[in-house]
Amino acid sequence: MKTLFEPFMMGGHMLRNRIAMAPMTRARNPDGVPNALNALYYSQRAAAGLLITEGTPISDTAEGFLSIPGLYRADQVAGWRKVTDAVHDAGSVIFTQLWHVGRVSHVSNQPGGVAPVSSTARIARNSQAWGLTENGTPGAVDVSKPRALSTDEVRGVIADFAQAAANAVAAGFDGVELHGANGYLIEQFLNPTVNDRTDAYRGDTLEGRTRFVLEAIDAVIARIGAEKTAIRLSPYGGLFDMQPYPEIEDTYLFLADAFSKRGLAYVHLMDQKSRGSVAIPPDFFGRFRARYNGVLILAGGMTRDRAERLIDEGLIDIAAFGEPFIANPDLVERLENNWPLAPADRALHYGGGAHGYTDYPTHSEESIVA
Ligand SMILES: Cc1cc2nc3c(=O)[nH]c(=O)nc-3n(C[C@H](O)[C@H](O)[C@H](O)COP(=O)(O)O)c2cc1C
Repeated sequence: MKTLFEPFMMGGHMLRNRIAMAPMTRARNPDGVPNALNALYYSQRAAAGLLITEGTPISDTAEGFLSIPGLYRADQVAGWRKVTDAVHDAGSVIFTQLWHVGRVSHVSNQPGGVAPVSSTARIARNSQAWGLTENGTPGAVDVSKPRALSTDEVRGVIADFAQAAANAVAAGFDGVELHGANGYLIEQFLNPTVNDRTDAYRGDTLEGRTRFVLEAIDAVIARIGAEKTAIRLSPYGGLFDMQPYPEIEDTYLFLADAFSKRGLAYVHLMDQKSRGSVAIPPDFFGRFRARYNGVLILAGGMTRDRAERLIDEGLIDIAAFGEPFIANPDLVERLENNWPLAPADRALHYGGGAHGYTDYPTHSEESIVA
């Protein structure tokens, strides 16, 4: 029987177990440069076989939240090196998540205060970014109306993904995960209720709406190799005004075929139910699995029991945990020993410093305090 706690070979990497830490934005970098506190945070959680960093902007126009560490400047590459060294010293493998928010952004997040860019000029309804409020203080702000990228500019963004991937490897990352989930730019191309383009990246054909993500993946593969390239997707997801459409399954199964041919490091599916949105229909996993022949990760409301069952049934290879990793730096040990999990203080998820970030105790430290 395959078990959650035994080593697993993912591409060229031997992971110490089948547990991944899901990408989580923590907004602790006001200057956009990764630092020693980030290195401590990730290394505290390095008992996971695979760590995936918080979403990391690929350019200054890719930003939609304040205080996020990027990967498009030399000082950011040098900062991430502290993180990757600390995680490697602690014996784990680390990928970074390459992020372009597209229209989930506010003019205060954009260089020169210009409109954010997207596949469309249509605003995301009922959606907020984290920018500067009217009185100039950081806070939740309604997203701004975007500007549709020209065809040439789309190619420029694809080049930004490839450059950020090369920067990631220069910073010591073992690979990159493109953020194709949660209503951000890649999904703004995939979803035909958003993508109203009429060029080669048009939303009303399968080839058109998948062209952006596949060209971005191919550009990244060309720079750093398929075994270092991965992607996160959230089929059926509803975050940031992603409306359902009849061709959801066809679109994602088409991508499953396309990714199989490319031999990616992994495909990471995210079920948004635990984040307050729509669940992936349970029977979709089997159909996706039948079409995708590589390593499959699933995140969203994971428990030890569920992870073991899904791995045993052969539906996934690696189980990713998000929020449980925040308050349980020793999550792997807690799961293995069936120790109770500590609840995270959600008020401390984003922003601030060490408090609520690197000061959550391990189970044994908790016992000493008690
Ligand atoms: C504080 C916080 C920040 C997150 N930031 C990101 C992110 O940057 N990129 C991403 O793809 N998902 C992000 N997520 C979603 C998680 O990766 C994960 O998929 C989600 O929390 C569901 O898993 P869970 O139920 O184990 O928490 C975030 C979640 C939390 C709680």
